[in-house]
Amino acid sequence: MQKAIIGGTGMYDIGEDSYTSKIATKYGEVEVDIISIQGEKIAFLPRHGREHSVPPHLINYRANMMALKDIGVKYIYSTVAVGSMNENFVPGDVVIIKDFIDFTKNRPVTFYEGGEEGVIHVDMTEPYCRNLNNLFIEESKDSIFIKGDGVYVCTEGPRFETSSEIKMYRKIGGDVVGMTNVPEVILAKELGMCYSAIGIVTNWCTGIETSKFTIHDITGSVEKNKKEITQIFIKVFMK
Ligand code: HPA
Repeated sequence: MQKAIIGGTGMYDIGEDSYTSKIATKYGEVEVDIISIQGEKIAFLPRHGREHSVPPHLINYRANMMALKDIGVKYIYSTVAVGSMNENFVPGDVVIIKDFIDFTKNRPVTFYEGGEEGVIHVDMTEPYCRNLNNLFIEESKDSIFIKGDGVYVCTEGPRFETSSEIKMYRKIGGDVVGMTNVPEVILAKELGMCYSAIGIVTNWCTGIETSKFTIHDITGSVEKNKKEITQIFIKVFMK
């Protein structure tokens, strides 16, 4: 099957009938839901597990991406919950991720660790798939409003950022912050899969607004958008 959706925070199933398939990889076993729409099979992988039981820094990104590659996936849409440090992107907005800045500290970020795999320096001129992004924009015209595109700063988590960190991330060109897109996007690129990440703004970043956000804000913003977003993914994939 050539197409997959990776669900971020708040997106643990896809609202379609599915069966679960267990895929063994050299990095570990991965459970992938397989949905079938008009004869087209699409894989769905909830990044944090179905019960949101895996924190961002402990996700087995290499197993996840290798499992998708092993079942033949070439095109991936993912969703990412993000905090905003750009006044133009308010909680509830949908933003296309156009680039990333990596502030992770302690996770395997490559398949290429020398030895059998060799040493490969993957090109990052365009980490995200322009075609998938354009198709998403095109297909979303009648249902959701996309606020724009933004640079994603990936932190190690699981803690949120300090206000001084957010000040720095803004200064260096970040628009939104999350904890998962690195190394996911990098590993997709290393495996030659087209990867697109759609950001759902769930909160203002620390220090941007004085009120503290809650998990309710996070799930609320995702809830508001997830059905439309998955329908658009499916529409693009069925074309
Ligand atoms: N920071 C980091 N990750 C996040 C945030 C945030 O404010 N919101 C959702 N994921």
